[in-house]
Amino acid sequence: MMPIGPLMIEHRLIERMIDLMKEELFIIEKEKRADPEFIEMAVDFIRTYADRCHHGKEEDILFRDLGGKKLTDGHRLTMDQLVEEHKWARKVTGRLVEANTRYVLGNREATSAIMECIKTLIEFYPKHIEKEDKHFFIPCMDYFTGAEKEAMLKEEWEFDKSLIHEKYRNMVIAGEKLLTAKKR
Ligand SMILES: [Fe+2]
Ligand SMILES: [Fe+2]
Repeated sequence: MMPIGPLMIEHRLIERMIDLMKEELFIIEKEKRADPEFIEMAVDFIRTYADRCHHGKEEDILFRDLGGKKLTDGHRLTMDQLVEEHKWARKVTGRLVEANTRYVLGNREATSAIMECIKTLIEFYPKHIEKEDKHFFIPCMDYFTGAEKEAMLKEEWEFDKSLIHEKYRNMVIAGEKLLTAKKR
């Protein structure tokens, strides 16, 4: 498998979550109320899977190695845009978390901010994914030798392996901090 194989497979799961978010948006619009639990689940997916696991492998492995190659101006520009888009999506997700927190605290006006963030994310991801799948990943493989591609794929598996440990270690650290603050 090429190193873009796992990334393209991950795109398919991200698309399924985006489809769920589309349906959820429709329900929020119809019922004029949000489902904070669904939003928490979607945010966890976006932050842990789409951003840390997926964008993480793109940025820390594929783009890092592409950075050492003599790219065409077009490919360099696309890669920079993709990184900027990842940053932008993180900000939108942060806004969704804030809006959801306000909603949980009883601020019903946060519903429109929630809808706006979900709408933004469901419009963003398919375009970003299409740019990678159809216009960037495959031509970029030509910059690498077979051995380089193999090494990247191996590094991707290693990257994934450490993630579950990272997620739950961070959860314990956050819990410890919370408890220390409560005791003060
Ligand atoms: Fe990406
Ligand atoms: Fe991607």
